[in-house]
Parts: sequence; C-alpha cells; structure tokens
Amino acid sequence: MAYENIVTEVIDQVGMIKLNRGKYNPLSKALLDELIDAIHQYDHNDDIRCMVILGGDEIFCAGADIKEFADLHFVDLFAANRFGHETDSFLQCRKPIIAGVIGLALGGGCELAMMCDIIIAGESAEFGQPEINLGIMAGLGGTQRLTRAVGKAKAMEMNLTGRRMKADEAERSGLVSRVVPDKSLVSETMAVAKKITEQPPLAVLAIKEAVNLVDSLPLREGLLFERRLFHSLFSTEDKNEGTQAFVEKRTPNFSGK
Ligand code: COA
Repeated sequence: MAYENIVTEVIDQVGMIKLNRGKYNPLSKALLDELIDAIHQYDHNDDIRCMVILGGDEIFCAGADIKEFADLHFVDLFAANRFGHETDSFLQCRKPIIAGVIGLALGGGCELAMMCDIIIAGESAEFGQPEINLGIMAGLGGTQRLTRAVGKAKAMEMNLTGRRMKADEAERSGLVSRVVPDKSLVSETMAVAKKITEQPPLAVLAIKEAVNLVDSLPLREGLLFERRLFHSLFSTEDKNEGTQAFVEKRTPNFSGK
C-alpha cells in the first residue's frame, strides 16, 4: 500500500511511523487504514523488533476527522463496525509500540497513544477526550484505557468535561512512562525503542503478552500465565546466552531462538 497520510522509516530494527496529515493530523479513515497496514507490515517483518508512532512536530493528533463524521449516521458506523478493525489490529500486534507525544493528543489522538504499549511525552504534551463537546463520546478506547491508566475519577472527569491533562499530571497519574524536553522527544523515544531491539526477542514478545493480559485475567490466573511463560523461556537459546554472558561479564548476543 502506498502511504499518503503517514511516513514510515526503518532505523536499526525500529519501525517508525510518523503521522503526516497537516498540522493537526486528524485521523481520517484513509490515515487509519495506512497506519494499520504499516503496523501489520512491521509486525510480520523479522527485521523489525519494536515500533514507534510519532505525530507532528507541534501537535501529536487532534483526533478523529470531525469533518468526516459530519455526514455519518449510526447505521453507517454500526454496519461498518467503525474502529473495530483498528482496535483489533492493535490488540493483535505482538511487538512493542511506543508513542512519542508532543503537543495535543485529543480524542482519537489520545486513544491512539493509549493503544501503544509505552507513551513518552514531551513537556508540551496534553491528553484529552473532548468528544463530549461534539455530542458524542470516545469510541477507540477513551473510556476503557484511560480509566485503566489513570483511575476512574480522572478518566470520568476528562471524558465528561473534556478537561485536558498536561504532561506532568500524565506522568504522575501513570498515563505516560516519562516526560522529556520536546526537543529530545524523538531521540529519547527512539533510544527506548533501540534498547528494546537489543533485548532477547522472545522474552520481549512474552512480556508484552503477559503485561497486556493484566486487564483480562484475575490475579491468580495472571500469575500462572506469567509463570508458564517464564518457564517456557528456559527452553530458548537466548536464556543460555543471557545467563552465560552475565557469568562471563560480557554483552549477550541474542539470536531470537
Ligand atoms: N478533525 C477535523 N479537523 C480538525 C480537527 C479534527 N479532529 N481538529 C482540528 N481540525 C481542523 C479545524 O477544523 C481547522 O480547519 P480549517 O483550517 O479548515 O478551519 C484547523 O484544523 C485548525 O483548527 P482550529 O480549531 O482553528 O485551531 P486551534 O489551534 O484554535 O485549535 C484544536 C486546535 C485541536 C484544539 C481544535 O481544533 C479542536 O478542539 N479540535 C477538535 C478536537 C476534538 O474534538 N477531537 C476529538 C474528535 S472525535
């Protein structure tokens, strides 16, 4: 698929995707189709071990394309299960995705960041779910993921009033892993991604699976699932290499086997 609304680049086993639809990056259906295609391609490319999603240099993303919404009715959205494919595609992606957010991440922009596994924020980042101001509500995870990330009170207030959360509050609340100066957002985000590419690939896949199951499994089953994955990694060459390198005081050379 040729991309017109995103730019992709592979840098040292990191699959980078940059939204590229003007200053505000409204998420048109075409943009989302391209984004999902790029994620799918990277996820099935053995040379890619981690992905990064970036927005614009001033604004991450102002959300779903409201102009596209104007003529749509319930029947159109329900029949097409609008946003179902995007939701499923992110859930199915096995490799880690990091969002690097500068400026506004509103509505679908906030939800896009939250569909990623790690969010790193620039100091100017602001997160919000302002759909209520349009007479609608979040439809791509804004009530579910935000609540899991920051708790009911903040998620409820943000979804009901449209209040935005700035970067420092987002870090305090656990929505983002850390805040960095805007000017180093891209380099810091790429550095985290690069670090992940250097980790044993099978352990990376297993950890993402285990962490993401926290919302769907009770603690007892979650701990059992984690323990079984832990056991299974002892059948890998990377486990032998990692433990041996530690003993020999050298850097491990992981093969993904
Ligand atoms: N979808 C479509 N177009 C959007 C958009 C969106 N989500 N967000 C901004 N735009 C467009 C505006 O319509 C405007 O287009 P125009 O130049 O053709 O008039 C342009 O981007 C600039 O927007 P404007 O509101 O004039 O800029 P601003 O700097 O004053 O405010 C925002 C920027 C992002 C705060 C404001 O545009 C906004 O609140 N956008 C909607 C956010 C939202 O509700 N997202 C959830 C969508 S479900």
